[in-house]
Order: sequence, then C-alpha cells, then structure tokens
Amino acid sequence: AQHDIERIKSLLGTHEDFPKKGIVFKDMFPVFQDPTAVEALISNIVHHINSTQAEKIDVVVGLDARGFLFGPLVALRLGAAFVPVRKQGKLPGECASAVYEKEYGQDVFEIQKSAVKPGARVIVIDDLIATGGSAAAAGELVKKCQATTVEYVFIMELDFLKGAEKLDAPVYSLIHL
Ligand code: HPA
Repeated sequence: AQHDIERIKSLLGTHEDFPKKGIVFKDMFPVFQDPTAVEALISNIVHHINSTQAEKIDVVVGLDARGFLFGPLVALRLGAAFVPVRKQGKLPGECASAVYEKEYGQDVFEIQKSAVKPGARVIVIDDLIATGGSAAAAGELVKKCQATTVEYVFIMELDFLKGAEKLDAPVYSLIHL
C-alpha cells in the first residue's frame, strides 16, 4: 500500500558526498532496523510479483551484496529458489561470467551454472538501480543459463540515470528517486 511505501521511504538514509564528493548516497540499512518496515517491504514486493506473474517464479537471483539480504526473504515467500550473483572468484564450481562497466573500469559477475536450470523463470533483485550495468550483467548470466528474466525488482530506482532502459524485461521499483 502507498502508506507502507511512504514509511519505507522515510526510513532510508541519505548521505551527501558518499562514497565520494558529488554523490548523494541512499542507504537501505535503516529500514532493516525496523522489522515491521521489513515486513511491509517484503510483502509489497511479493504482492507485486504474485499479482503480475501468472506463472510460477522458479528462481530469485540476488545481486552482490545487498541483494543477498532481502532476496532470500522474497524467494522464501514465493516458494522459489534463491541464487546469488557474486563478484568473480567467489563461487565454486562451473560458473558463467559477465563483464559490466562501473564508474571507473569494469567488474565481473558470476553465477553457478547448475543453480539455474534451462527454461527457469527468474526475478533479478537488488536494493538500487543506478546506471543498470550490474543488473544488465545479471540478466546476461540468466540468459547464459538458458533461463528467462521475467522482471527486475529494486527497492530504489534513480530515475534520472535511466538504468531501466538497459534491461530486457519490465522493471519494478518501490521507490523512485
Ligand atoms: N545507494 C546505494 N547504492 C548505490 C547508490 C546509492 O545511492 N548509487 C549507486 N549505487
């Protein structure tokens, strides 16, 4: 409900010039100090997914690192698997890799190939979409597993960066900044 979204928004931290000058950093962690706000957050996301996806979600893919903190809560409620996307070199076994651009230089994301089966219906989840580079790389990894990203879900979206335009499926963000 709208009043839940307003409450979650009011709990977000705002830090000017973090991690460097000129950046206004939005911090989701204060929300996690309030279990009723976390409940509202997870319920909102799950309700959105259940009311827009006619078919079952097989996998929630959470992005390193904040996507690991609430992705599993969403997956549990959906009765779906949770699968992490991590920075290169952290995951054992056969992995698929995708390169993405960061503010300075590149980074590599990986997923365990055996964790996402061909044909799986996947939700990619993270706390915030900025330029969309990391989410797009996660989408590439899902494709390399021959699975389908049916939606990208974020707590916060920085609309002015137009990151959603980089993504190959609908985007749902609770809070637009
Ligand atoms: N908060 C968290 N992560 C981010 C932000 C932010 O404001 N901008 C880019 N990544």
